[in-house]
Amino acid sequence: MTVTALIVAAGKGERLGGGVPKQYRSVGGKPVLRWAAEAMARHPSIDQVRVVIAQGQHDLAQAALDGLPAGELIAGGVHRSDSVLNGLQAIGDGAVLVHDAARPFCPPEVIDRLLAALDGSDGAVPVLPVADTLATGDITLDAAVDRKNLFRVQTPQAFHVEDLIYAYEEAGGASSTDESSVMLAAGLKVATVEGDPMLDKLTTEADWNRAEAIIASRMVPRTGMGFDAHGFEGEGPVMLGGIAVPHSRGL
Ligand code: CTP
Ligand code: MG
Repeated sequence: MTVTALIVAAGKGERLGGGVPKQYRSVGGKPVLRWAAEAMARHPSIDQVRVVIAQGQHDLAQAALDGLPAGELIAGGVHRSDSVLNGLQAIGDGAVLVHDAARPFCPPEVIDRLLAALDGSDGAVPVLPVADTLATGDITLDAAVDRKNLFRVQTPQAFHVEDLIYAYEEAGGASSTDESSVMLAAGLKVATVEGDPMLDKLTTEADWNRAEAIIASRMVPRTGMGFDAHGFEGEGPVMLGGIAVPHSRGL
């Protein structure tokens, strides 16, 4: 069975603001989209990576994906669900991992868990428990909400392509923020697997600072020393790193 990673990168990043949409903004020296695509491309169970982009962002996307095996870029739509559907229609049958470009760091173990769970289910999604107290309300609190059975649902989300297309058809064009809600609305079964805080979406400036801090903490500075010897000819001077090095000819 072919496994396709479908990365949706056709959003505007309005909540974050700034000139360039967040998926093309750099974090830890690389565009966010590139991190997301690399994580998918390097997983041994993923056969192909495809990316959905917005109109007019071809050059940005190509620069971000330079050298990665991302196939032909797919045109996105107005809402995220339009972008996903366009992507699904452009890929073949098999399994699909629908993933937000705005989630740059995907641990390989999450993909392993998703594909294993997809075996016995119509879909599988990574979830994390909610740590904070939850409540409804506005200026004042209305009521507390029991968080016991509540989850934060992340991406990538795994499905069989034909099931997900069916679920989107059933939705009849209604917009949604992820695929699991579309699948549930169509009466299909979605398994949960353990998610990972590394998969949290970059939405605001605070998320950005957190991501930069994570990457910085993972960078290990290394230095090295080497030795090399060559004979030389001519008058010189001997230049090393742009500097003339004093020397005497002969032995
Ligand atoms: N996305 C997409 N097509 C859209 C809207 C969103 O492919 N029409 C993608 C985004 O690029 C992102 C993912 O869906 O990778 C999750 O969406 P979100 O975090 O909401 O990103 P944006 O829509 O870009 O941000 P915002 O809602 O703040 O404008
Ligand atoms: Mg959005």
